[in-house]
Amino acid sequence: MRQDFPVLAGDDPPVYLDNACMPMKPEPVLRAMDNYYRNFPTCGGRSLHKLAFDVTEHYETARGQLQRFVGAADASEIVFTRNTTEAINIVAWGLSLKRGDTVLTSDREHNSNVIPWHVLRERTGVRYAVVPSRDDVYFDLEALKEALTPDVKLASFVHTSNLDGYTLPAREIAEICHDAGALVMLDAAQSAAHTEVDAQKLDVDFLAASAHKFCGPSGTGLLYGKAEALAALKPTFAGGSTVRNSTYDGCEFLPPPSCFEAGLQNYGGMIGAGAAADYVAGVGRDAIHAHEVALNERLTKRLAGMEGLSLLGPPEAEGRGGIFSFNLAGLDGHEIAMDLDESANIAIRSGMHCVHSWFNSRGIKGSARASFYMYNTAEEADLFADALEVTQRTLGGSAGAPRREEQSFA
Ligand SMILES: Cc1ncc(COP(=O)(O)O)c(C=O)c1O
Repeated sequence: MRQDFPVLAGDDPPVYLDNACMPMKPEPVLRAMDNYYRNFPTCGGRSLHKLAFDVTEHYETARGQLQRFVGAADASEIVFTRNTTEAINIVAWGLSLKRGDTVLTSDREHNSNVIPWHVLRERTGVRYAVVPSRDDVYFDLEALKEALTPDVKLASFVHTSNLDGYTLPAREIAEICHDAGALVMLDAAQSAAHTEVDAQKLDVDFLAASAHKFCGPSGTGLLYGKAEALAALKPTFAGGSTVRNSTYDGCEFLPPPSCFEAGLQNYGGMIGAGAAADYVAGVGRDAIHAHEVALNERLTKRLAGMEGLSLLGPPEAEGRGGIFSFNLAGLDGHEIAMDLDESANIAIRSGMHCVHSWFNSRGIKGSARASFYMYNTAEEADLFADALEVTQRTLGGSAGAPRREEQSFA
């Protein structure tokens, strides 16, 4: 399927290993968006002309595609968003949490599942608590049980971490949290792109995901909510398209999902997001996961003896999915990333990957991260390993060497 991705099908394609950030976009997604912009680039849901009906039809088809992709019971349980971050914020502000209520997360959360709780704490007095991981990096179910005091109203957990590829035991977490009376939200930004995610089987109340992480257009995502959980949320962004009627004195909101989709929407983007869901589901997320683990295993074995290499996350590739996050003694991640890009046309990510809290709590400046997707090849994994060895020799990193000058990591 590599030929479906124009950037990779070109003459001198990059070895693209920054997929945990944003994967490439395949032809069916481009065609779906192109179709909208060429043939009916108008507004859905309002006007009564044929073009507008076309928009509504394609837009609602996309909702159904996303419904199937995350295992929602009904399309009305899918709210279109710009990304995971917006989805989490819709829940954070919509739950009407009050002073003393507690929100619980793991200690390996992306900023999108940390910063909203800081803001909420500052503005409303909501408490924010964190469940520490075990020393061996795995999630600690016992620590979760201890942290679930009666004031915990929402437990919001990352499913697969972008830090190291580790996947938390979401089903068990949801069960334990529900037994303690807390609602559960899952940040499926990474997991939905790489593994089968079924919101009903996981039994979570809310699930946030970014379509741009599963080959969808940039700036597209979704919030899933069980019907009763969405019905209990208050719209944060309100305005056109969210109400049935309004006067100078008040308004009558539409039911979910419309009450959460204020103003004219990213119709072309969401139509592309639906196509992306179908594309990824068509390739098969079990197959994608198996492929990524095989590449990761190959890379892990190949670099096992590299001097000064330390890996983040579980030692076995299966526990890290498609993510190979690492440090090389004596070098910082940005140096490695820039050298690989310049000398070998290999794109990886470096820094704190927006998981600042985890790195800061451990006094680590960040890491370099290679992340695979369905279109990466064994040859690319080998090219990366070869190039990393050259980078180490060129830049002079070695075990025990002091780090180069301090740099700020984003
Ligand atoms: C685990 C995880 N959660 C949340 C996010 C935020 O996603 P977005 O920037 O699309 O909102 C990311 C993005 O890298 C992520 O990896």
